[in-house]
Parts: sequence; structure tokens; C-alpha cells
Amino acid sequence: MPALSPASSSSSPSPSSPLSREPVVAALRAAGCVFAEDEAELLLSAARTPTELAALVERRVAGLPLELVVGWAGFCGLRIAVEPGVFVPRRRTEFLVTQALAQAPDASVVVDLCCGSGAVGAALADRLGPVELHAADIDPAAVRCARRNVAAAGGRVHTGDLFRALPGELRGRVDILTANVPYVPTGEIALLPAEARDHEPQAALDGGADGLDVLRRVAAEAPRWLAPGGCVLTETGEHQAPAAVDAFARAGLATRLAVCEESDAHVVIGVR
Ligand SMILES: C[S@@+](CC[C@H](N)C(=O)[O-])C[C@H]1O[C@@H](n2cnc3c(N)ncnc32)[C@H](O)[C@@H]1O
Repeated sequence: MPALSPASSSSSPSPSSPLSREPVVAALRAAGCVFAEDEAELLLSAARTPTELAALVERRVAGLPLELVVGWAGFCGLRIAVEPGVFVPRRRTEFLVTQALAQAPDASVVVDLCCGSGAVGAALADRLGPVELHAADIDPAAVRCARRNVAAAGGRVHTGDLFRALPGELRGRVDILTANVPYVPTGEIALLPAEARDHEPQAALDGGADGLDVLRRVAAEAPRWLAPGGCVLTETGEHQAPAAVDAFARAGLATRLAVCEESDAHVVIGVR
């Protein structure tokens, strides 16, 4: 999209317009946006007209996550399309992608369960080159969004509950199985930032009493779908990590925990 700068666009606001850069920064700052300057740049570059810019600023000031305002999120160097009602991929999850690539650099069959926007599968395919990519989610809104994001990689996106969504012919063939499951304990949902609490579906966040309900189901069934030497990776919270590792080990997987202190990411990796 063209940048909306007074020098480059005849439809740009005049310097005194309330929609020139400084008022946008001021409006965002007043609304509590910590990175107001950076966000203003993004909104200015996403808008084609002052009217559009005003609408974007209004939505952001009202508390809509920035990614939903502009319609995309940066992830592993890609622009991932995001839509209302779909989980916004987090930068932290880039660590899961790098761990998967390190574990299986020659993977040719990739499955991304609980795919949300499809960011993880899209990033893996981008790095691995031509792969057979399948993604799946229980939420039709996520499935629609993921189809946009994995189309370039020729990925297929299925709808349904975890492995039930997948074509049976994938059993025993999967080299990389990622599942960034919902892992917030039910009782902690209310403590999440408003952007997540108010704008992301409960099913994308809620992992049950201890946050591990979905993770345990993935761990239990993963070995049947993995190729020999194939790996399964899930993100988890620091306090949940020991129980998550235990769930993978009980499923018979050679299990380890990878931690990125910088992004506070904890990834459980199981190898068949
Ligand atoms: C935390 S989000 C992760 C989305 C994406 N993988 C990412 O990292 O951005 C969890 C996703 O799991 C999906 N989900 C929850 N329960 C599921 C289930 N039983 N089967 C399939 N998908 C499920 C939700 O709809 C949501 O899109």
C-alpha cells in the first residue's frame, strides 16, 4: 500500500490536518499504545486516504489489536494475513519454527495442527522449500484465514478436532508435526491483556484447568502419525513445562524442552 505522506500523495492530509503524523502519534499515545511512533508509521503506510487513516486510528484507539487493524502480522519474515476472530500469531512462536527446522531440516511432510492463521505452517514451508503441507483447525474462521496464508506453499487446510481433521493417509508419514495448542489455564484467561481477552476466541486460548488438556491429547496421538524419526513440537508455559514434557515422554517419545529466555518461549519437542 502506498505511504500517506504529504510529499507523495495528493490525498494526504495537510500538515495542519488532524490526520498528519504527529496527531496520529498523539492519539495512539493517549490511548496507551507503548510503541505509538512505530504504530503510527504502520497505520500511515496502510491507509490510502485520510478517511481510511482516520478509520484505522479510530479502531486502534478503541483497542483492536494492531495486527487486526492493518490486516496482517509479521512472522518469521512473512506477512501473515489475520482476520477478526482468529488468533494473532505471536513473535514468541517463531522459536517453535526454528526448533522444528533444526530438528528436521530435510522434512518433506509437515502438519500444523491448531493452525489458527496458518503462520507456523507457512513459515516452515517458506524455509524448507517444496513440502507436502497440511494444516488444520477446529474453527472455520481460522481455516479460511489459514487457506490464504498457505496457498503460496500449496498447503491444504482441513477443518476438525485435532487429528480427526487429517486425511488418514498421513498416518506414519509426518516428519514435522507442530501444534501450538491453546495452553492458558482456564482460571488465568481473565488475567490476559485485553487485546487477547476481548478479541481472540476462547477456544484459541483456553487449555483447561491446568492448560494442558489439548497438549495431552496431541502427545497421546502424535506417535501414530509421525514417520520414524519424525518430531512433534508444542509451545507451553514455563510452569507447565515439566508436566508437558511428562505427557510427551508417557507417549513414548524421546522428549526434551527447548527454552528461549529472550522471548520467554518454551517448546516441548518429542521424537518418534
Ligand atoms: C493458540 S492458537 C494458535 C494458532 C497458531 N498455531 C499460531 O501459533 O498462531 C490455538 C488454535 O487452536 C485451535 N484449536 C483449539 N482447540 C482445537 C481442537 N480441539 N482441534 C483443532 N484446533 C483447535 C484454535 O481454534 C486456535 O486457532
